[in-house]
Order: sequence, then structure tokens, then C-alpha cells
Amino acid sequence: MSGNAPLKRLYIKTYGCQMNVYDSERMADVLAPLGYGVTDSPEGADLVVLNTCHIREKATEKVYSELGQIKLLKQDKQAAGGAMTVAVAGCVAQAEGEEILRRQPAVDLVVGPQSYHQLPELIARAHRARGERLAADFAPDEKFDALTAERRPSGVSAFLTVQEGCDKFCTFCVVPYTRGGEWSRPAEAIEAEARSLAEKGVREVTLLGQNVNAYAGDDGLAGLVRRLAKIEGLDRIRYTTSHPRDMDEALIAAHAEVPELMPYLHLPVQSGSDRILKAMNRAHTAESYLRLIEKIRSSRPDIAISGDFIVGFPGERDADFEATLELVREVDYAGAFSFKYSRRPGTPAAALPGQVDEAVKDARLASLNALLEAQQRAFNERQAGRVLPVLFEKLGRHSGQIIGRSPYLQAVHATAPDRLIGQIVPVRIESAARNSLSGVLDLETA
Ligand code: SAH
Ligand code: SF4
Ligand code: F3S
Repeated sequence: MSGNAPLKRLYIKTYGCQMNVYDSERMADVLAPLGYGVTDSPEGADLVVLNTCHIREKATEKVYSELGQIKLLKQDKQAAGGAMTVAVAGCVAQAEGEEILRRQPAVDLVVGPQSYHQLPELIARAHRARGERLAADFAPDEKFDALTAERRPSGVSAFLTVQEGCDKFCTFCVVPYTRGGEWSRPAEAIEAEARSLAEKGVREVTLLGQNVNAYAGDDGLAGLVRRLAKIEGLDRIRYTTSHPRDMDEALIAAHAEVPELMPYLHLPVQSGSDRILKAMNRAHTAESYLRLIEKIRSSRPDIAISGDFIVGFPGERDADFEATLELVREVDYAGAFSFKYSRRPGTPAAALPGQVDEAVKDARLASLNALLEAQQRAFNERQAGRVLPVLFEKLGRHSGQIIGRSPYLQAVHATAPDRLIGQIVPVRIESAARNSLSGVLDLETA
């Protein structure tokens, strides 16, 4: 990047979902005009921001242990006559702001996911008086209106938040409490941000929302995808995360009709047992989910389906878990994330009887993962011999190698000149591993 050297050093650590990745980037954008430049180590930083995740207990506990480390760095800096401001942002800040301030006095301020546009002001205030330290409320429109700072995308693929919050209230989940109700950004604002990204060299956007397919502006998410697909230079569109309930006909049709819309869909199911799905308040059954997948595949046969699973939800018996394995066998996933149920204070499931033993959860997680990993490997191996268009994004670890993504979101390694970064190039896939593909530039079709 060009311009004057930044006066102050900003370290941001991001936990959790892609929405937090987007938010962290925007935090750096709002702080840049104040002279903050991003650094990749917290040591000696003037401002440290932890952008946190509350989804599982482990995610939350990580934040407190990281804060313990940061406290020492802050003391070092103070001893050397300097000062470090420590901010906690994101979903833990929203859920337990007061507790953070109580548990870790080194924290100067706490800022929720809808308030980070106020960071400059909060920092100034913290500097002045160590006065009001809490800003946690819900009004996404205010935030986006205030985020006038230019985005500085760091690569050819960028996240773009289009929807926030969740009204689904799955009984295990904190998101409706940390991110508030469903809210959609106006299509015009999204289009403007997408255009400016494209002008800066971005070729792919991933539209983000906790329930992105509940996007309520324009003509729903399908309308938004069609609108963005017209933008010059924007060749690839993705979206995540979707709820089965909001997967409408128009969006399914868009997968068949809009070439820019990539053949990849993350559609969490959580469980294959109707009894458990009901207790989770998921509003779909195993059967309705399978029918939906069938419909999506008849629209776009090669689509890569991924999902999320929770094992050990309260009351889950062996037969329920078997039903999950059965559903996974029927769907045949290209990839997935599975988690042990984590009891979250304040959520309805935390109070349910029949909490499952850790050892049982461990065993179920291991056997589910074994099945999902085998499916992922098989999906990757099926690409061998095919020629896939790859959007190259960055240098590889070995010299002469660059890395990109296939339409199915697989990482693809190829030996090729780095001038191809930022371009979509046909690659003949030669081999597959569980997490990536390797190939060679396909000169015949190039
Ligand atoms: N809005 C998205 C993402 C939610 S969080 C969705 O509905 O899919 C991402 C994943 O974390 C969820 O899909 C779920 O599988 C998992 N998750 C959420 N709460 C959890 C909990 N209490 N314990 C374990 N996993 C959880
Ligand atoms: Fe959480 Fe369910 Fe909303 Fe997803 S749909 S964010 S799992 S409450
Ligand atoms: Fe975590 Fe908040 Fe995202 S709880 S998963 S960072 S919405």
C-alpha cells in the first residue's frame, strides 16, 4: 500500500465467522484516517482489538486467555513509557461486556458488532477519561450509514455483508442474542460497495449474512445476485450462510441461470433426527431437507453441498445420531463442519434435561467426521482429470507455485507465474487431497 507511514500500530485478532472477518476489515478502515496502520503482532501495538466469537464455550474462553497475554504486553509497554489501548469487539463483547470489564481490567473498552463505527470516538474517550467503556446496542443501519470510509480490499476475493442477525432462535444458538434480529442492507448500498470493490481489482465477492438467504431487499437474495452479476469485472458470486427454510425457488433457479453464481452451497442441517430437529427449533425435517437438496441438484447438478452438524444435543440418543449418519450418506457432502454441542448460558437448550456425556459426544464427533472426511476426499478426487476455471489469489508456499479456488471453493495449487494472480485460468486437475487439489495450467483451453 502507498501513502504516508502510519503513525500508530493497530493489531486486530479475529475469531469466529466470516462476518467477523468482514467487520475486522471495516474496523481497520474506520481507524485508518486516524493514523492507525495494521500490524501482525500485538507486541508494542498502540491499539489491540480482539474481535470475538461467542458461539461455543471454547471460543469464548480463548478470548479471556488471549486477554491475559495482552495484559502482559500492555504492562511492558507502560513500563517503557508507552501506552496500549485494548478493545474487545464482536459477539462476546455484546453478550458479556460487563463481565469482560470485570474479569480483565486491562480492557479499556468493549464494543458490540453494531457499534464498531464508533471506535474512533470510543478510543478518544478511553484516552481522555477512561470514562464510558461500553457500547453494545442493535442498529445495523446506523453502523452502515456511518461506515463511509473507503474499503481497502486486500485481495481478489472479498466478503460483503448484506444481511445481519437472526430471527430463527435455534434453541442451542447465541446468535439471535449477540447479533439481534434479521436486518437487510439496501441493495443500492450493497451494489455501490461491490462496484467499488470491483474497481479495486476484486473478482469475487462472498455475500455474508447470518441468514443470508433471508435477505429481504431487492427481489430477495436471488434478485441481489442477478443485480451484482451485471457488475463489470465481478466474475464470481458466493453467499453464506443459508437456512433451509429460506432457500426459495428464485434462488434455486439462479443457480441454474446465473453463470457468475458459483456452484457451492453451505446449507447447515445440524441433525438428521426429526425428534432432535424439533427440539432444536429448526423448522425442517430430515425429509424436507433431503427433498430440498434434490431440488437444488436438479437445478445445478454439479453443485458442491456443505453443511454444519451438532452432535450431542440434549436428549440425542444413539438412534438419533444414526439418523444423522444416514442423512449424511444420502446427501454426500463436499465438505462440512461438525461440532460437539456446547451449552450456552441463556439459550433454551442449556436448560433441557438429558445433557449428553462428553465421552459420548467425542465418539459421535469422531465417527461423523470420519464419514464427512471420506466424502470430502471422494468429492475432491472426482475432480481429477477435469479442467476447472481457477481464480488465483496468492503465492503458494513453494516457489513458483500459486494458489486459487475452484468454482466449488476447493483450494487449487499450480505451478504458474505470479502474474496470473487475480485471473481466472483453466487448470487441469491432476491430484486431490482432502483439503486441496493440484493441477497444471491447461494450455489447450487457455
Ligand atoms: N447462521 C448460521 C451459522 C450459525 S453458527 C446457520 O444457521 O447455519 C455456525 C454453526 O455453529 C451452526 O451452524 C452450528 O452448527 C454451530 N453451533 C451453533 N451453536 C452451537 C452450540 N451451542 N454448540 C455447538 N455448535 C453450535
Ligand atoms: Fe443460530 Fe439457528 Fe440463527 Fe443459524 S439459524 S444463526 S444456528 S439461531
Ligand atoms: Fe461467532 Fe458471532 Fe459469528 S457468535 S459465529 S462471531 S455471529
